[in-house]
Amino acid sequence: MDLFNLDQNYILNTYKRMPLTIKKAKGSYLYDDKGNKYLDMFSGIAVSSLGHLHPKVIQAMKKQMKKNLHLSNYFISKPLVSLAEGLVNHSFASKVFFTNSGAEAIEASIKLVRKYGKTISPDKFKIITLSESFHGRTMGGLSLTAQPKYQESFLPLLPGVIYVERNNINELKNAVKEDVCAVFIEMIQGESGVQVLSKEFVDELIRLSKEHKVLIVADEIQTGLLRTGKLFAYEHTNLIPDVLTLAKSLGGGLPLGAMLVSKSLENVLKAGDHGTTFGGNPLAAASGLATFEILSNPKMILEVQEKSSYLFEELNKLKLKYEIIKEIRGKGLMIGLEVGKYADQIKSEALNKHVLLNVTNQTVIRLLPPLNMTYKDLKVFLDVIESILISLKTNQNG
Ligand SMILES: Cc1ncc(COP(=O)(O)O)c(C=O)c1O
Repeated sequence: MDLFNLDQNYILNTYKRMPLTIKKAKGSYLYDDKGNKYLDMFSGIAVSSLGHLHPKVIQAMKKQMKKNLHLSNYFISKPLVSLAEGLVNHSFASKVFFTNSGAEAIEASIKLVRKYGKTISPDKFKIITLSESFHGRTMGGLSLTAQPKYQESFLPLLPGVIYVERNNINELKNAVKEDVCAVFIEMIQGESGVQVLSKEFVDELIRLSKEHKVLIVADEIQTGLLRTGKLFAYEHTNLIPDVLTLAKSLGGGLPLGAMLVSKSLENVLKAGDHGTTFGGNPLAAASGLATFEILSNPKMILEVQEKSSYLFEELNKLKLKYEIIKEIRGKGLMIGLEVGKYADQIKSEALNKHVLLNVTNQTVIRLLPPLNMTYKDLKVFLDVIESILISLKTNQNG
């Protein structure tokens, strides 16, 4: 029986698989069982930011594997402490709690902000999130994910969650009151099609949060760690968050998430208030530390900014030439191309031409390439996209 049939037989059918059997992955390429190579334009959904099997990350993992794989959180591990130190030194935060995944970092944050609220008043427990947000699939994360299509089958959800329309300042003003303990935001909403929060909205949120003692939780699970051209996406704005969540690329390809908290919050959760068996696993921490050391290097940051400018420039030229691209959104190397009904067709034609694309919210091509992708490979992608746009235009006219 082939792998696809075995998958159908034994694994719950919750994912749409791509029709490829990947044998290995290296750098910006995936290789299938037939010897074909595919350019990876979404990095396992923003996980493999240094491409696949980066030598420094592999070396760090090998070193750790000779020491231990799991000891439990009764013991500290050197790579984990060093990673926490790095995150603290490069951000607003003063302490870190490690998890296995993004959703768990969100769960930890929900508990922290609820407990913070209680330190002020028993009624201060409401949480605000934004329309079309995505904060994970656990019941807490799902409650914060303001998208009925994900929620409907699983009601009732967590009580006390209020949804505000993204970038709607009036709605925000009406919602942020004394009974709210926190607002969760993505600086750029990834899953809903790379939607950027407006400066005005973020500035008003900062003002309201101070006035009403409301915490701001920046969900940077997708935008964090240089994806947007800065180490953290909040650095593009005036915001200094109270809490920040990370995952995806944090573990350098292994499962690792984190909740970063500001100085004033570091004593809210006490011993026994929260915990996890695997969170902060030493192997994931070693891989994460090696990855973070590269991603936080100023030279690397500059490189990503330059690549981003190049890609935006070239994509804008394509937008002018081919009206199929309606809008280009995003920052850094997190880019959304609004292509309406053509999204799936572009994705499947790109697959035929050995370029792997990701479509989100039905109409958006979401680009999340490895941050160290070469200009040569970015050009391969641009040429393929242009060839597809030409053929679509010809078909439209014909
Ligand atoms: C912004 C954001 N928050 C939370 C999550 C959930 O993370 P995980 O899939 O690791 O649970 C994701 C995953 O796509 C995300 O993009």
